[in-house]
Amino acid sequence: MKKRVAVLISGRGSNMAALIEAAKDPAFPAGIMLVLSNRPAAAGLAIARSAGITTAVVDHTVQGKDREAFERQLQEMLEAHGIEFVCLAGFMRLFTPWFVARWNERMINIHPALLPAFKGLDTHARALAAGVKIHGASVHFVVPDMDCGPIIAQGAAAVLDDDTTATLAARVLAIEHRIYPAALALLAAGHIKIIDGRCRIEGVTGAAGHLIVPPI
Ligand code: GRF
Repeated sequence: MKKRVAVLISGRGSNMAALIEAAKDPAFPAGIMLVLSNRPAAAGLAIARSAGITTAVVDHTVQGKDREAFERQLQEMLEAHGIEFVCLAGFMRLFTPWFVARWNERMINIHPALLPAFKGLDTHARALAAGVKIHGASVHFVVPDMDCGPIIAQGAAAVLDDDTTATLAARVLAIEHRIYPAALALLAAGHIKIIDGRCRIEGVTGAAGHLIVPPI
């Protein structure tokens, strides 16, 4: 039985689309049952609808500053659809500890940097400014502190001398689209154990390679 997953978005939804595409495979252990946006104009909503996925909007601006009222509405929606796991995919709202606790070890996020480096926004510009030679993306569990939960998977890209934020973002995004569905599959299949704040991953074989930049 596929696990029931909701994807929460605020914008273009390319990671959401990657999750939807992967979940079409009958062997994928999760199904995307709901796409929820806090922004009525999120472009990803139309993509989800055209893929036949149920969509909903919980507009955070309606609740004003009452974050818990917004979250209670989200929670009701998730419960109404029997959701078991939540994937944040470009969802631009921070949650209160109340909501995070409800989804403890069942809510994951994709972040466009190799955590714990470059938490927060504008990660590609900050990576370029810092002069790092390797950048990338991380999938992690959501905890009350932003971009801080146990890391499930990371993918790295070389930073090239002539990279701009746009070229670097595009290379990292391709990695995001690969690691997010893979991380969700591991979670839904029950292959992740969190021990002392670190994720142990079972059921994956093969050795990881090296990425050395410049290629010396
Ligand atoms: C991605 O870069 C993701 O890592 C970050 O927000 C962006 C969302 O892009 N959290 P998309 O909406 O999935 O295309």
